[in-house]
Amino acid sequence: LSSIPLFISPLNRSNMRLSSLLYAAPRYLMCRPTFFNVTYSINPWMTRAAPVNCSRAMDQWETLREAIEVAGGKVDVMEPDDGEELPDLVFVANAAVVRGKKAFLATFSNKERQGETALNRRWFERGGYEVHEDEKNAFEGAGDALFAGAGNRLLFCGIGPRSGTAALPKVAKLLSKGEDQLKAVACRLVSQRFYHIDVAFCPLNESLALWHPTAFDDVAKHNMSNELKLISIPDEEANNFACNAVVVNSTVIMNKGNPQTALLLRQNGYQTKFVDMSEFIKAGGSAKCCTLRLE
Ligand code: ARG
Repeated sequence: LSSIPLFISPLNRSNMRLSSLLYAAPRYLMCRPTFFNVTYSINPWMTRAAPVNCSRAMDQWETLREAIEVAGGKVDVMEPDDGEELPDLVFVANAAVVRGKKAFLATFSNKERQGETALNRRWFERGGYEVHEDEKNAFEGAGDALFAGAGNRLLFCGIGPRSGTAALPKVAKLLSKGEDQLKAVACRLVSQRFYHIDVAFCPLNESLALWHPTAFDDVAKHNMSNELKLISIPDEEANNFACNAVVVNSTVIMNKGNPQTALLLRQNGYQTKFVDMSEFIKAGGSAKCCTLRLE
């Protein structure tokens, strides 16, 4: 089956139906933004200059969820329950990194987000996941850990602003199983605006990814380009969260206003779906940050 997509144009509607027969629908976790707001500042985007419009945020979140479903994804919704004091809980990419039925929970570097872990742990435990964590070392989940490479066995991990290298051997080891042995590739982020790897790098499939190279140091740039074919996106679109996209089959869902990235994607057989993420960008997150890939 692995060779079949080579012969299928992902833009052809009837073939899209064929590919959804061939593959199980990709699943994502999203957390309803019931208590979403900007009440503190832990990244350069969180200025409070423009207050969050909470009802617009809720609409934007619903639109994102619908776009994922229309593209062929399935969405599990986590309710924030007693998360009144946790305005960033909506950024569920940071909850954990997931492989099969194993979840490695985040250990947040900022105290403002540390309370999220208990709610995330509860969700994964109720879902029957084998849950791991490294309480001693900062690691911000799939916001800083993206799978790519052959068999998706390389875990590209952002280090510097939020996550360190210390947790990575444990993350790779505990998420590996039998033949499925993972390797973590530490990628140093050098800009405060690109403080998680998922705002500067977006794998499209096992061998192809979007990236914003200036967000990484030279060693990371070298290691990443050794492993993958990388599509550089223009500065202004990287700053408009073009890399922070949800890839659902051949559809790439991202914040609106990224026409050059959409063109590059089209040239590589992907279609772009724009959604308005303006309210979440006030907190430094966009489409991908509001989702967590489950398997
Ligand atoms: N305000 C949140 C923070 O600074 C935004 C998180 C964005 N998440 C992500 N996966 N990039 O932690």
